[in-house]
Amino acid sequence: LPPLSTRFSDLLACPACAAPLDPTLACTGCARRHSTSSGVVDLRLQTGDAATERVRRFYAEAPFPGHPPGLDYASLAALGGRSELAQRLDQAIAPDAAVADVGCGTGQMSLFLASADRRLVAADLTRASLEVGAEAARRWGLVGRICFVETDLFAPGLRDGAFDVVYCSGVLHHTPAPARAFARIARLVRPGGLVVVGVYNRYARLLHRLRRVVARTSGMRRFPWDPVLRARQAEPARRQAWLRDQYLHPLEHRHTIGEVFGWFRDQGIEPVRTHPESLLGVDSEAPPGFDPYVDDFALEHLLVQLGWMFTLAAEGGLFIAVGRRSDAALQA
Ligand SMILES: C[S@@+](CC[C@H](N)C(=O)[O-])C[C@H]1O[C@@H](n2cnc3c(N)ncnc32)[C@H](O)[C@@H]1O
Repeated sequence: LPPLSTRFSDLLACPACAAPLDPTLACTGCARRHSTSSGVVDLRLQTGDAATERVRRFYAEAPFPGHPPGLDYASLAALGGRSELAQRLDQAIAPDAAVADVGCGTGQMSLFLASADRRLVAADLTRASLEVGAEAARRWGLVGRICFVETDLFAPGLRDGAFDVVYCSGVLHHTPAPARAFARIARLVRPGGLVVVGVYNRYARLLHRLRRVVARTSGMRRFPWDPVLRARQAEPARRQAWLRDQYLHPLEHRHTIGEVFGWFRDQGIEPVRTHPESLLGVDSEAPPGFDPYVDDFALEHLLVQLGWMFTLAAEGGLFIAVGRRSDAALQA
């Protein structure tokens, strides 16, 4: 067993009893031993519920989102440079921060953020996806900065209160109980730390649901107005990963801004921002990064989300909500 880098051992925990792990991955509480293979730490219990197991098998067949052919570190950095969200995250995260990317898939965001003295823990249920990310980290010399962990967020092998930032995008809405899933990952962030979650918006997803009806009724031959599928014509694996994720997923929920902010408040997380913004008409006044910029006005949220039906539909209707843990004490 290769010794676990001491850079990461204080960020991991036993998924069975939540006690710390020692640098050989042995649990200091229940003495259970954990292992690493193909660059991925195995902290997944074999006791997941049937719905989660179905999601795991679904992604194992087509790791999401997959890496474009020939992706190297320079082209990943260029992709990140073109993504407004990646830029905002990079600017908001301190150079020595501990970051959990929960449900990282093939790990692009973690690989992009793994610079300076940051410690990235890229966690996912699906080993096939993690191995794609771990192989890229090895090729690009990032192994000391990023640790790929196979784990179920409902029994995570990650230490509560250990992370400056918890990022979780495109994941909660594919779990059997999104509010409960959020409550679990919110415990990972330290007091004062940031939580950044991306979920399908109830309104923004409407046009995609219509598109999915057309796809189904045409026997999966027609996918109207799907720019992502069109752009991936020459990349069969990533095209297939997107098609499955968007049109054939076994488990999907959709949420409003108000609902997600309600999850935040229930866990002692103060809503600070959405991406795109959820205030109408004054973007030029918006403070930078993830500084506070929200107003809890349900009618304004409704208008903003109706607008998202058109502006976010092309790429599936996902929005980002950002919050900051305000309570001093972690819940038991
Ligand atoms: C749509 S992909 C999103 C991947 C990545 N975050 C992104 O934005 O490209 C959803 C990911 O969530 C993971 N996932 C689903 N349920 C999970 C759970 N209970 N615990 C950990 N990961 C989970 C899946 O394995 C999959 O890789």
